Amino acid sequence: IYFIFLFPAVAYLMGSVSGAILFSKVFNLPDPRTIGSCNPGAANIFRSGKVYLSILVFMFDLLKGMLPVWLAYRLDLPLLYISLTALAVCIGHIYPIFFQFKGGKGVATALGTIAPIGWDLSGLILLVWLLVVLISGYSSLASVITAVLAPIFIWWFRPEFTFPVSVLACLIIWRHHDNLERLWKGGESKLFRLNKRKK
Ligand code: G3P
Repeated sequence: IYFIFLFPAVAYLMGSVSGAILFSKVFNLPDPRTIGSCNPGAANIFRSGKVYLSILVFMFDLLKGMLPVWLAYRLDLPLLYISLTALAVCIGHIYPIFFQFKGGKGVATALGTIAPIGWDLSGLILLVWLLVVLISGYSSLASVITAVLAPIFIWWFRPEFTFPVSVLACLIIWRHHDNLERLWKGGESKLFRLNKRKK
């Protein structure tokens, strides 16, 4: 019976290790929760001008999502168990026990949890995110649009994962309510200012 809780519990602890907060501490940079969008995530680090660090944060958050789910997958654990592990690692990232439960929005970590289901699928999701960022300039808009589309893609590729991915997508969209409000009011910051060059 303990085994049932082992994977999700370890996954939650892994998720709680926020890449953005951790690396900012290591490199003696301000806490990402106090600058820019106040979100401890790769996008906010990128916006602060630390491009290489943002890539590192993205990879770290992605891998910590991928690892427990990949292991659960390889061990051929039941679908419910794999899904709970994926949810737990994302909840850990969003509400980290090590950082006063103030975490990120779970986008990179969620992508990591989807990666073991299929590289083609996660590649498509990443591509959509990148395309929306390139077109709109907004990372939050890209995350929300991708979260809306992800359950549809999953339904095509691996229908058995539609429900857990939909739950994850709802969690991510809900975590972006501040961003959505800013986007609506026109106060959201762009990831970069590429499309300003047109003027
Ligand atoms: O990928 C995270 C992004 O969706 C939102 O980040 O910093 O714009 O709130 P941020």
